[in-house]
Amino acid sequence: MRIASLTALGFAAATLLAHADDGSPIPFPDGYRQWHHHHSTVNMKGHAPEGNTGIQHVYADPRAVAGLRSGSFEDGATFVVDRFTYEEAPNSSLVQGKRKVIAVMVRDAARFSQTGGWGFQAFKGGDPSMRAVSDGGSACFSCHAPLGENNFLFTRGEKP
Ligand code: HEC
Repeated sequence: MRIASLTALGFAAATLLAHADDGSPIPFPDGYRQWHHHHSTVNMKGHAPEGNTGIQHVYADPRAVAGLRSGSFEDGATFVVDRFTYEEAPNSSLVQGKRKVIAVMVRDAARFSQTGGWGFQAFKGGDPSMRAVSDGGSACFSCHAPLGENNFLFTRGEKP
């Protein structure tokens, strides 16, 4: 029993370490579905880039919500885009399908000064081990860069 529980503790510690020290300063956003759901968007067929087609939900953690109110974001503020495929269903409905990606922006003004003070990471299929960003976020930032007057965010204000 004792050995079993020590082993379990060991596993828990290893998991924590793996999260904290996996080569990326941007951790998987555990619990984001309990954050503030800010809005959802459907990128329909024909949307460019094609890979961003889908239903997506934008979440803001409490620091991000505070930043949307005040206009400035403290370090740690985090946004998530949770994107799914969609399928056309009877009676003119679009139904949410499989998760495509969880995209994350984390505020750290000094650390991510090259990309507007935001760190970018994306998790393919929502899998914490499938990191998609390996260029320091510069490809992500290329789309967000023109939005400097809104802290490089597409999302505006506390409410949609
Ligand atoms: C082709 C342009 C484009 C690229 C490239 C892009 N984004 Fe975005 N991003 C957007 C748009 C448009 C929105 C607004 C989405 C909405 O409101 O539904 C957005 C919103 C976001 C948000 C929510 C906060 C905000 O700005 O509204 C996060 C988080 C995010 N993107 C992360 C990423 C990550 C991570 C990458 C790279 C893997 C990335 N983005 C690359 C266009 C882009």
